[in-house]
Amino acid sequence: MRIVKTIPELKSFISECKGEGKTIGLVPTMGALHNGHLSLVERARKDNDIVVVSVFVNPTQFNNKEDLRTYPRTEKRDCELLESAGCDVAFIPSVEEIYPEPDTRVFDLGKVAEVMEGKHRPGHFNGVAQIVSKLFAIVEPYRAYFGEKDFQQIAVIRRMVELEGFDLEVVACPIVREADGLALSSRNVRLTEEQRAVAPNIAKTLMESLNFAKSHTVADTVKFVVDKINSYPDLEVEYYEIVNGHDMQAIGDWGDSDYVVGCVTVYCGDVRLIDNIAYKK
Ligand code: PAF
Repeated sequence: MRIVKTIPELKSFISECKGEGKTIGLVPTMGALHNGHLSLVERARKDNDIVVVSVFVNPTQFNNKEDLRTYPRTEKRDCELLESAGCDVAFIPSVEEIYPEPDTRVFDLGKVAEVMEGKHRPGHFNGVAQIVSKLFAIVEPYRAYFGEKDFQQIAVIRRMVELEGFDLEVVACPIVREADGLALSSRNVRLTEEQRAVAPNIAKTLMESLNFAKSHTVADTVKFVVDKINSYPDLEVEYYEIVNGHDMQAIGDWGDSDYVVGCVTVYCGDVRLIDNIAYKK
């Protein structure tokens, strides 16, 4: 596996590969890799000739300085994991390499970016659009892979792809969970032992709500999830929204869409965890 730190070096490798007619799959990450990321690499490995994984903690998508400061950084281990997962190139640029000048671009991401994470983390999705569009412009991948844990992020990236006219496929991959149901996240390492023990109740409650939803309204199901999660020590729901999976807008009735997803954000102590579940797909 090559470890590449600069854009010119990566571009020259990419143009060599393209010259040989090879397809390129890109997996953008912020490092602190876990099996969720590795499942994306595995999928990219199956679908493409060359797999590029970027490892970059993107400062422009953090609306909270403390979150950026404490975001786990495990570069050496990330490289070992990527090597054994069959990655061809780990692109690990510095902040100066990616942003020699401040990125002032503002994307018109529309209504998919205005709700949920967009409302609670102002500027977050614009930062995601900045970095992902830069990576797409550098790598020009045939396919790019994202995990469904960040369900809304995928919709935002699809919108950015449409806006910018990138010719590539955005591949959404299923959430990977611990044996006890907790969705894998780089932030899980920040949980204390007690918080780690209580955190699986987020996924457990979402699962229970599938059954509850069969005989209750959308509003009752939202209340069921919020009340149940909040009843556990150390868990506090920031929002739970049941949305149309196509456009991220909250629905009022189960019949409002053929694709219905519940998206939750929960503070476990000061660690912000997200998860989601499909009621209809
Ligand atoms: O999902 C993430 O880890 C990040 O938002 C991404 C897509 C790598 C952009 O920094």
